[in-house]
Amino acid sequence: MSELETLERTLLADIDAAGDEGSIEAVRVGALGKKGSISELLKTLGTMTPEERQTRGAQINALKTTVADAITARKSALKDQAIAERLARETVDISLPVRSSPAERGRIHPISQIVDEITAIFGDMGFSIAEGPDIETDYYNFTALNFPEGHPAREMHDTFFFNEDEKGERKVLRTHTSPVQIRTMEAQDPPIRIIIPGKTYRQDSDATHSPMFHQVEGLVVDKSANVANMRWVLEEFCKAFFEVDQVTMRFRPSFFPFTEPSFEVDIQCDRSGPIVKFGEGTDWMEILGCGMVHPNVLRSGGLDPDEYQGFAWGMGLDRIAMLKYGMPDLRDFFNADVRWMNHYGFRPLDMPTLFGGLSA
Ligand code: DAH
Repeated sequence: MSELETLERTLLADIDAAGDEGSIEAVRVGALGKKGSISELLKTLGTMTPEERQTRGAQINALKTTVADAITARKSALKDQAIAERLARETVDISLPVRSSPAERGRIHPISQIVDEITAIFGDMGFSIAEGPDIETDYYNFTALNFPEGHPAREMHDTFFFNEDEKGERKVLRTHTSPVQIRTMEAQDPPIRIIIPGKTYRQDSDATHSPMFHQVEGLVVDKSANVANMRWVLEEFCKAFFEVDQVTMRFRPSFFPFTEPSFEVDIQCDRSGPIVKFGEGTDWMEILGCGMVHPNVLRSGGLDPDEYQGFAWGMGLDRIAMLKYGMPDLRDFFNADVRWMNHYGFRPLDMPTLFGGLSA
C-alpha cells in the first residue's frame, strides 16, 4: 500500500471516529490546516517534475478532495445528530396537567378582604381612606385625644413604649387608630369624611387578643354632624357588612376621653348555632365604640368647636372578621399557615363590591 493510501485510510478512520464537532475540527486541522499532513504534501508539488506532478500531484489533490468531502459530510451528520438529541431531550410532555396560575392559587388574607369590604361600603357613602404612622408620639396617641397626663384611661391601653429618644420623648406603638383623627384634622379642612383602617398594638395575647391587631376608625366633621347621622351611617354599614336587610342596634352610654357623649354599640344576633347570625335572634354582641367628637379634640385638630362638630367610631377588625367568617382563634390570623390561608383566604380576583356582593 502506498504511503498516500495509508494516509487516506488513517484520516478516513479518524473522521469516522470523530464523535463531536470539536474532534472533527481537530482532524481537519491535522490534515488540511496550515501544517496539516495533506497541506505539507501539497507544498511538495512545486519541487516536482512536470511528469511527477501529473501522477503524484493528481493523487495528492484527489486525496485532499476525498478527505475534505469526508470531513464536510461527517460535520453535517454530527450537527444533525446533535439537533436530534436536543429535540429528544427537550420534548414537552403535552399530556401533563397544566399548573394553575398564581392568580388562581394565591389567597387574600381575611383581614385584607375585610378592609376591602369596608372600603367598598364607606367609599359608596362618600368616605375616603386616611392613614397614619404605627409609631406615634404620646401627643397624638393620648394628649391630643383628650387623655390628660396621668389619666387612668392611659393605663387601660396596655401601651408598648419605646425607650426615651435624645429629646427625652418616649414614642409608643399606637394603641388605636384614633391619632389619625387629629392628623387628618390638622391636614384637611372640613367637611371631613374618612375611614382609617390600620394596625394597632397593645400588650395582650390570648385566643381573642393579639399584641398586634387591626382597627378601623371613622370620622365625620362638618357644621351639622349629629348623633342621628352617626346612627344612620353605622346602621347602613352593619347591614351592608353583615349582608342582611335589617339590623337592630343598641346604643349604650359609655366613656371615651375623645367623645362626648360616648356610646358602645351592640347588634342583635342569634348566637345559638355554630355561626353568629345577624338581623335575627335575641342575643346582643358589642361591635364598636362611637360618639360625638369632644370639643377638646376638635381644638387639638385646629378646629373651632363652636363652628364644627363631628362624630367618630372605632371598631376591631379582627373580631368582626372572626364573627363574619366563623374563624375561632385570632392567633391563626398571624401564623402564616398556608393550610389556614387556603381554607379561609379569598380569591384574588373576587373583589368585594356593593353591586357584585361583598363576600360572594
Ligand atoms: N379608640 C377606641 C379604642 O381603641 C375606639 C373608639 C371608640 C374610637 C370611640 C372612636 C370612638 O373614634 O369614637 O378602644
